[in-house]
Amino acid sequence: MALSGGSTPKVMFEWMAKQQFDWSQVHIFWVDERAVPPDHEQSNFRMTKAALIDPAGIPAANVHRIQSELEPARAARVFESEMLDVFGLAPENVPVFDVIHLGMGSDAHTASLFPGEPLINDLHAVSAAVYVAKLNMWRITLLPAVLLAARNVAVLACGPDKNAAIGRVFSGDEDLNSYPAQLLRTAPQTLWFLDEPAACQITSFL
Ligand code: 6PG
Repeated sequence: MALSGGSTPKVMFEWMAKQQFDWSQVHIFWVDERAVPPDHEQSNFRMTKAALIDPAGIPAANVHRIQSELEPARAARVFESEMLDVFGLAPENVPVFDVIHLGMGSDAHTASLFPGEPLINDLHAVSAAVYVAKLNMWRITLLPAVLLAARNVAVLACGPDKNAAIGRVFSGDEDLNSYPAQLLRTAPQTLWFLDEPAACQITSFL
């Protein structure tokens, strides 16, 4: 599976860690990571390690951290190389995850594909380093080809600050560059887990 970060999933990860689940057969990757060291307060790995990996006792050999302390482009190359190796794939292939967990920002970004990011339209590459101007931050992210190839995609988005973006994702005209999460609205393997405050502006399903 590939997990997203941010604040929403922390509670879900803590719940997952308490389930009687055999994690020995699960390999954890990240959908994206901030270009900060793994012990930084903004690190997705740091949050996931505390909320899920350590409490669930997921074997270290099954945890494939993005080495975000490296220069971003190199971190993306190393990440992709390790991912393809674990999947037993040659370069240029697209890994097919059993499960990809995504979140969505109030600007309708998902993974680290923010509005205006040209790689939203790249349906071939696997991962990249992207500069997020609004955050003045580099990130490493999976790209659409991997998100769309997954057997199952679960999008978790909660709270009233997401409802305008959710409304545009589901009910607005197609405008991927402005609403990157629209990438998933026609993906048949995608399930959206929304609370009422986040879903209340959905007027139709396109
Ligand atoms: C990240 C996430 C990102 C997240 C959204 C929603 O690194 O921030 O991968 O894509 O899912 O930003 O984040 P919240 O759950 O904090 O609203």
